[in-house]
Amino acid sequence: KAEVRKSLYTLLEKSSEHFQTQLREHKNRQQVVNYLKTRGLTGEVAKNFGIGFAPPGWDNLLKALGETEEDKKLLIEAGMLIAHEQENKLYDRFRERVMFPIRDLRGRVIGFGGRVLDNSKPKYLNSPETPVFHKGKELYGLYEARQAYKEIPRLLVVEGYMDVVALAQFGLRYGVATLGTASGEEHLRLAFKYTSEVVFCFDGDEAGRRAARRALEVSLPVMQDGWQVRFLFLPDGEDPDTLVRQIGPEKFEGLIRDRAIPLEDYLFDAVSDGLDLKRMEHRARLSKLAAPLIYQLPKGVYRELMFQQLAKR
Ligand code: GTP
Ligand code: MN
Ligand code: MN
Ligand code: MN
Ligand code: MN
Repeated sequence: KAEVRKSLYTLLEKSSEHFQTQLREHKNRQQVVNYLKTRGLTGEVAKNFGIGFAPPGWDNLLKALGETEEDKKLLIEAGMLIAHEQENKLYDRFRERVMFPIRDLRGRVIGFGGRVLDNSKPKYLNSPETPVFHKGKELYGLYEARQAYKEIPRLLVVEGYMDVVALAQFGLRYGVATLGTASGEEHLRLAFKYTSEVVFCFDGDEAGRRAARRALEVSLPVMQDGWQVRFLFLPDGEDPDTLVRQIGPEKFEGLIRDRAIPLEDYLFDAVSDGLDLKRMEHRARLSKLAAPLIYQLPKGVYRELMFQQLAKR
């Protein structure tokens, strides 16, 4: 079992090297380089995140790494090859995509996200769950953030790979992304192992606002003393990538400093929509909506303070 995991790590690392080599040497490389340039990425940040290219074709990786039957089996287990059952054939999972390797805290490649170069669907493809890759437990960019700081000032939880990489490109090297799954309590616990402040910063759209509400609800039961959780809501139509390009890193950090809302305020905002607190029945309604959320918090001083806050409001 441990043997297998070791081989999986090795093959995933080799896959990542293969994709990076393709980005440097493939005959279509210019198309990809141009794409990354239109996204505003420099070679340096691309290198830092190990960004690569899976070329078009069904068997590039298979040919490069599937030397033995054993290796082919392991590449399937690693999520890199797919077995077509009827035809008894193997093919590459990732084709014609920009490749983002996902690393664990020790820097080992455990999976990939791959983005198309145009508007085709699906826009992103992720590695499946494997013995070394558990989406609910990983934060993309956490390894890179740890490399960048002696002490990580905060972790900004964003939606996408591109958001993490764009922030890093502008020197904000504390972005992390959940991997196509919603933020769960495991993500929060993981983040707080390495910092004392987490700021959720999702896209300025309906999906982003729903994600924030969900992040609030999963955060409540696991909140601990000393954890600072805040929410930064972006203007409509923006995500961290587009916004940091537009306003630059200083203003972006200014927004985090001045506009990110503490969890304790967001909780009340989230249930106050459409309420007029001058009216008694609306105050009753606020209490009805907020109390169950506050009860989600662990027993303790913080929870008591929240009930006091509710009474005040
Ligand atoms: P760009 O268009 O490259 O800027 O990506 P984005 O990160 O802004 O995309 P979007 O806001 O649409 O989605 C946020 C995140 O959701 C992505 O980074 C992916 O992790 C995930 N995601 C988006 N589209 C898909 C998809 O088609 N399939 C899967 N599995 N995940 C997706
Ligand atoms: Mn495991
Ligand atoms: Mn979005
Ligand atoms: Mn985007
Ligand atoms: Mn987005």
